Amino acid sequence: MQNFESYNPTRIIFGKDTHVQVGMETAKYAKKVLLHYGGKSLKANGTYDVVVDSLQRAGIPFVELGGVKSNPRLSLVEEGIQLCREEQVDFILAVGGGSVIDSAKTIAVGACYDGDVWDFFSKGKMPEQTLPVGVVLTIPAAGSESSNGAVITREDTQEKRSFCSDIAYPVFAILNPALCYTLPKHQIAAGGADIMAHIMERYFSTEPHTDLSDHLCEATMCTLVQELPKVLVDVQDYDAWAEVMWTGNVAHNGLLGKGRIEDWASHGIEHEISAIYDIAHGAGLAIVFPAWMRYVSHICPSRFVQFAVRVFHVDLPMADTEAIVQEGIHRLESFFRSLGLETRLSEINIGREHFEAMGEKACNGGTLGGFQKLSPADVVKILELAL
Ligand code: NZQ
Ligand code: ZN
Repeated sequence: MQNFESYNPTRIIFGKDTHVQVGMETAKYAKKVLLHYGGKSLKANGTYDVVVDSLQRAGIPFVELGGVKSNPRLSLVEEGIQLCREEQVDFILAVGGGSVIDSAKTIAVGACYDGDVWDFFSKGKMPEQTLPVGVVLTIPAAGSESSNGAVITREDTQEKRSFCSDIAYPVFAILNPALCYTLPKHQIAAGGADIMAHIMERYFSTEPHTDLSDHLCEATMCTLVQELPKVLVDVQDYDAWAEVMWTGNVAHNGLLGKGRIEDWASHGIEHEISAIYDIAHGAGLAIVFPAWMRYVSHICPSRFVQFAVRVFHVDLPMADTEAIVQEGIHRLESFFRSLGLETRLSEINIGREHFEAMGEKACNGGTLGGFQKLSPADVVKILELAL
């Protein structure tokens, strides 16, 4: 097991009706708020009204900026930074999913920085100050509600890049599973694939003696595989949503990667796909992850056997390692397909025309991934396996 530090300061407020208290919670930090959200869903499902009412009852003035798109854009971030300065905002409340939260986190660091906020994404510059960010989560998926990262797309260069900093953890995140009842099936499925991927990025490690985090990862994956199909059958199944929402948080709050070298190659490759084709991040991961597994499983077959047996209960003769490995990957793909997701690029009309450029950008002058260090040529081969 590797040495590690553990730190996650986000207060999780979980359960029925919890979003009603967002005003009181925000009042602990804020004099003036930027209320940040996405497209139509928030107003259509009534969450916007509840949040606004709660802020008003707590006596907190706010300005608002909606319109965050999936794969959130730098241009709206810049608008948000400007607005925060003009309105002397000292707190950002993100109500939505990963895209809204990441946009909010980036506005928050940008508002405290004199230079170009893209410096944090392109030059490895670390932000030193931020406005505090609070979250009302409306979709379990990205885990950004208690992660230290943000992912932003710069439109003119089609670059999707991230920054990570401990100052980017939201101060609180409100998780009310009932807010998920209005999610479209495709978003539920894509969110589920992202949650699974966050666990697998940590699980596929060559680090020995990580039994506790192995078992935590496996329990988290088994819970997702068991509970997610239930919400696709009955979108108002509160108990199943509660499991999925908590699973989504645990998947990406940092706990599951402790003591091990994480991978993150599949995420790096997927970000190149969604940067160009603007697909849902989780939908891209359902395609990339199985291809990555097929490409790298020979590095440490025992880990893939453990995955197949403990997560998907593959019951083949233990001597037949390769068959077990392949069956585990096949069952993962079948799980994604059962959610309604595609598992090949060709099924979503993506061809190989940008593969070389994606490989170069994903590796960014170096290599990609912790399990096997991938070169641009390796990335191209994985993309070809995903076709
Ligand atoms: O825009 P609206 O109308 O609100 O619709 C949204 C959006 O179309 C809809 N939605 C959200 N909650 C809803 C709802 N519709 C009905 N009812 C609700 N309760 O869902 C759609 C997707 O929202 P989005 O925020 O884009 O989804 P997600 O949470 O999957 O976030 C994806 C982004 O997060 C990044 C991804 O790269 C992507 O850009 N990630 C961020 C990470 C982080 N910061 O730690 C880690 C992740 O690996 C990921 O890379
Ligand atoms: Zn992800």
